[in-house]
Parts: sequence; C-alpha cells; structure tokens
Amino acid sequence: MTSGAYSSPHGASLPPPPPHEALGLGKGTFSYEELAAATGNFSAANLLGQGGFGYVHKGVLPGGRVVAVKRLKSDSGQGEREFQAEVDIISRVHQRHLVSLVGHCIAGARRVVVYQFVPNKTLEFHLHGKGQPVMEWSTRLRIALGSAKGLAYLHEDCHPRIIHRDIKSANILLDNNFEAKVADFGLAKLTSDNNTHVSTRVMGTFGYLAPEYASSGKLTDKSDVFSYGVMLLELLTGRRPIDDAGSGTAHPFLDDSLVDWARPALSRALADGDYDSVADPRLRGNYDPVEMARMVASAAAAVRHSAKKRPKMSQIVRALEGDISLEDLNEGVRPGQSMAFGTAVAASYKAKAPGPYTSDMERIRQAPMASPVYSGAAVEFGRPSTIASEGSFCDDLSAAKGQPQL
Ligand SMILES: Nc1ncnc2c1ncn2[C@@H]1O[C@H](COP(=O)(O)OP(=O)(O)OP(=O)(O)O)[C@@H](O)[C@H]1O
Ligand SMILES: [Mg+2]
Repeated sequence: MTSGAYSSPHGASLPPPPPHEALGLGKGTFSYEELAAATGNFSAANLLGQGGFGYVHKGVLPGGRVVAVKRLKSDSGQGEREFQAEVDIISRVHQRHLVSLVGHCIAGARRVVVYQFVPNKTLEFHLHGKGQPVMEWSTRLRIALGSAKGLAYLHEDCHPRIIHRDIKSANILLDNNFEAKVADFGLAKLTSDNNTHVSTRVMGTFGYLAPEYASSGKLTDKSDVFSYGVMLLELLTGRRPIDDAGSGTAHPFLDDSLVDWARPALSRALADGDYDSVADPRLRGNYDPVEMARMVASAAAAVRHSAKKRPKMSQIVRALEGDISLEDLNEGVRPGQSMAFGTAVAASYKAKAPGPYTSDMERIRQAPMASPVYSGAAVEFGRPSTIASEGSFCDDLSAAKGQPQL
C-alpha cells in the first residue's frame, strides 16, 4: 500500500493530481501556517464539526478554493513516510462520488488533511437532524446509488484497493443537488496505530460494524459492504442504526439494533411485496415499489452475517439500477424464500432476547480487550488484534473485478 504503483482499472497509471491542487509548498503539501491562515487560525466560526479523528474547519486557500481542513488527533502513531505515502495514494483517487483530497500537512507531530469542501452537510444530518424536511424517495435512491458507486470504485477499481472502514451516514457528504460524496476513505488507515493494545479509531462506529470485523479485526471489502447495508437500512426506514432514544437504560446496546430488526422484516416485505412495514413512515407510501424492492433486497444481502455471502459493491450498484435480478443478488434464492433465519429471530424477539447482531456486539463490548466508550452514536473500540496485514488486505479481495463505476 505504500508503493508508488497507481493504476487505473485497465492497468494504466493514474494521472498526477490536477495542477490547481498543487498549491502550497509542493505537490499537495501545505505548511501549518498556510492552513492556519486559510481557516482564520482554526477559528470557532469556521468549525464544521468534530469526529473521531479530530476537528474539521472550513478554509479558503489563497487561490480562492474552499476546503475542509481536518486536524488529526496527535496520537496517530504513524511515521511520516507512511503517512505521506498513504496520502499520496488517496490524493490520486478522483471519482465523482468520493470527496477529493486536496493535500496534507506534516508539521512536527501535527498531521492535517485538506479536502475538497462539500457544501450541503451529511446524510445523517438530512435524514435524522431535527426539523429537517422529509427526504424524498428519489433523493434517497440517488444517495444510495452514488455512495455505492464511490465504494465500488475504491474496492474494485483502485490499485492498491482501498477499504473505507468507517462507512456511515455521517461520512456521506452531500452537494447542493444531493449527490453523495463518500468522505474519509483511507482515513482510518492513516490514523491506525501499530500498538495493538492502544484504543484507536480503526474499528469504526458502533451499529455499523460487520460482526467479523468487530470480533477479530478481519478486514475485507465485505466489512464495508455490511456498513453500507446498515446505511441503506437508514435510508429505507429512516431509523438510526441503534435506536436508544428514550430507552433511559444503562444498556442502550441491549435495545434492538436496526440490523436485527430489519433482517426478518426485509424478508417478509420481499416475500409479500408489502414495503410499508419497512419503509420510513415519513415517506407516507410515496415511493416507487420496484425501486423499493431493489433497495430492500440490496440491504438484506449486504447485512448478511456471513461476509462471503454479501454481494460486492458493483453487484449492489447493478441491483439498485435494475441491471441484475434480485435473485442473482441473493445467489438464486428468491426473495422471501429464506425465512428460516428470520423466523428464528422473530422467535427471539418474542422471548425478549436481543437479536444475533446485538448479542454479538454486546459480547464484544464486554470482552476485556475491547472497552468501547459509549459517546452518542459513536463508539471507539480497542483493537483486539492487529488489523489484517497488507497481504491479507488484498487476498480477500481477489474475486473478479466489476465494471468501472465512474
Ligand atoms: N470535506 C468536507 N466538506 C464539508 N464538510 C465536511 C467535510 N469533511 C467533514 N465535514 C464536516 O465536519 C464534520 C465532522 O467530520 P468528521 O469526519 O471529523 O466526523 P464524523 O464524520 O462525524 O465522524 P468520523 O470521525 O467517523 O468520520 C462532518 O459532520 C461534516 O459536517
Ligand atoms: Mg467523517
């Protein structure tokens, strides 16, 4: 991942970053002073938000370009050379549905990443923010498709391939036409820590974690597919991944997770063609049932417990576009035929037991190595084992490549 080999889907070298991005001292590098000047000395007025990696400020570069400037928390533990190499790779990834990296800054222990500014906040804000108008179905589908294309590009068309590791609605930025742009890809890797015992951000966000990734650190493109599936569930249902609102208990984790609730509900909806039971009630039935069936089937396939059985992102793109049958997405199983699992889960609800996904997460939460701190929707886990080596990073992704999704 740190080599200089960049290639396009067809093996040709990716072009260098466009000249307008080569601002600052050299190619995409900035001094800390330049970024301080761009952001009004990182003023509170320019603060866009704060995430697990650090603070994000809006800035304007001398040429007038508007950027988002993210100062990483200082405990990145990553060497200068590795940081630079990773940034170089990510800065060469240009795709309509991915936030472009403009450059970076290394100044002493400081690490700053500079992104293209995306003006219309996040999917999370528009879907779950208080007082926001109901997001129309066509907008939801456009966002689902755009972010699927961005992810498919990272997984299947980049060399080296890139796994996002933190797909969630807060990391889907929107432009003024509600086109999706996936943010923060590769960022978890930039901030990853070589020390296996120190809590880092690499485990992503609670409620979106693929079970195998959460429990063993096994990282493949299919862990992103799972998280993407959770995001589809949010778009479909309007619900948050973990709905602890009003629970008032010390164990919000024990409440139903969206995944456990959705697995049997999606199967039932596909079987009887009644999508109102899963659709966001705020849509009031205003959706295209054919498109809804595609999204429901895609979500159901993406959140399968077995990573191997989850589709690749390019398959999800085709399913959402109606280019493959939903049976293909489900490996020959017609929607509604595989109810056994759903029935078992329904039974567990009757017994008031948490569903399989919730149970998995609760077990991991209680494991001595993983002591997450619950802070709103985001939870940070200690990493139980070293994240997959570079070798396995690629080994698990050796399946046939899909079409470029530019
Ligand atoms: N490129 C960007 N353009 C515009 N706003 C951005 C950009 N990147 C981030 N932001 C804003 O900054 C806020 C914080 O982003 P950040 O990525 O640090 O946190 P997060 O997405 O909530 O969590 P995570 O740390 O898991 O990514 C976002 O909610 C978003 O509103
Ligand atoms: Mg983010």
